[in-house]
Amino acid sequence: MSAPKKLFVKTYGCQMNVYDSERMVGALGASGYEQTQDASEADMILLNTCHIREKAAEKVYSELGRLRPLKDAKPDLKIGVAGCVAQAEGEEIIRRQPMVDLVVGPQAYHRLPAMEAKVRAGQTALDTDFPEEDKFDHLPAPRGPKASRAPTAFLTVQEGCDKFCAFCVVPYTRGAEVSRPAARLLAEARDLVERGVAELTLLGQNVNGYHGAGPAELGGGDWTLARLVRELAKIDGLQRIRYTTSHPNDMTDDLIAAHGEIDKLMPYLHLPVQSGSDRILAGMNRRHTAEEYLRLIERIRDARPDIAMSGDFIVGFPGETEEDFADTIALCEQVRYGSAFSFKYSPRPGTPAAGRDFVGDDVASDRLARLQAVITDHQRSFQNAQVGKRMSVLVEKVGREAGQMIGKTPWLHAAHLDAPEQVRGKLVEVEIIGSNTNSLSARAI
Ligand code: SAH
Ligand code: SF4
Ligand code: F3S
Repeated sequence: MSAPKKLFVKTYGCQMNVYDSERMVGALGASGYEQTQDASEADMILLNTCHIREKAAEKVYSELGRLRPLKDAKPDLKIGVAGCVAQAEGEEIIRRQPMVDLVVGPQAYHRLPAMEAKVRAGQTALDTDFPEEDKFDHLPAPRGPKASRAPTAFLTVQEGCDKFCAFCVVPYTRGAEVSRPAARLLAEARDLVERGVAELTLLGQNVNGYHGAGPAELGGGDWTLARLVRELAKIDGLQRIRYTTSHPNDMTDDLIAAHGEIDKLMPYLHLPVQSGSDRILAGMNRRHTAEEYLRLIERIRDARPDIAMSGDFIVGFPGETEEDFADTIALCEQVRYGSAFSFKYSPRPGTPAAGRDFVGDDVASDRLARLQAVITDHQRSFQNAQVGKRMSVLVEKVGREAGQMIGKTPWLHAAHLDAPEQVRGKLVEVEIIGSNTNSLSARAI
């Protein structure tokens, strides 16, 4: 037998790309590849890319520039581009960077082994189709020995988006919304739990719009995300369930109720609003008002009073006035997010907003700084408010100092505590004794 070939994968963008990268490693494992963390020893390098903002997309070309010397020194090295830039730009990537051998969009990953054979034979391979068949039926489930498996894992339950927000590339790069059948998800979840996974984060661009087929033996029909979470919660050994990312308009009554009823469902919800101005929300095609969003959060908090909200904001969307921006700050002050992400609007080719007048970089930068100051202030006070509380921490890894372990609280704060290494992967009851810049200090009780 020949020595395994080495595969180096670099992942950009969202958690779904992290999940996909793991699946691609699995798929190429069948072609004799073993993953390496060292690009210089690789026989194949795959960049799993993100197209969400211009900066994210440009990273691909600067990375390809950096890889040039490796390719020059080792002509046998194959370079592939996967992910959302691959989908959006396709052949253009090979035109701009002729050293690229392979371009594969997110819906064609199960065809990677055949594409690999083609590039080994000296050809280039390009596949940005949205095939009829379900790629997940053809991709091996995530593997990896139990001992090295992290206690947290992602599980893609839904992919794609039909919402068409005016700024967003996702409906074009990930395609139409597709939900995976519940039976497969339950099987994949059980498999992960057997490998030591204690926390699952269900992924989808519109995860709360999940509507996958229910297993016949459980009554069939289409399941909602709430129904799926209820079934997952029955898996022994699975301790925590999260899901991301949700759209406010798909936050159904049964899902809100689930937050009050299912202990394993963590009290943390990422529910992006993008803007606090109704005028801008309409321009973004978000299809709800600021008031409707605030009422929704009230209902969620009625069901689960200790829930922490998280969100995304875009500042400087075309047409945004100082008054619109003030509405965003006001919404932020009302919600008081436990954490939130904010971005300067980035015009994306092919999206409806791309042709509209941009407010200018200076204005956008200034608003971003002001919004982030408010968010950071709320984040800090929320984190500081944890001190003195008792809660569980899921221990994920060894800390930097001797005898120290690091885990996550239900509210996704990193917490470190003195504990033996054997607690890795376990829930430990702690008291929070300190709040640092980026983490909490905890003491096991
Ligand atoms: N529903 C998606 C959102 C993906 S994009 C999900 O599952 O993650 C993540 C965030 O990026 C969005 O919520 C939005 O705040 C931001 N974003 C998307 N397109 C953008 C653009 N053109 N410019 C700036 N930010 C953008
Ligand atoms: Fe993009 Fe909007 Fe779909 Fe989220 S809901 S992926 S922001 S189009
Ligand atoms: Fe980026 Fe594609 Fe995810 S554009 S955010 S990698 S869905």
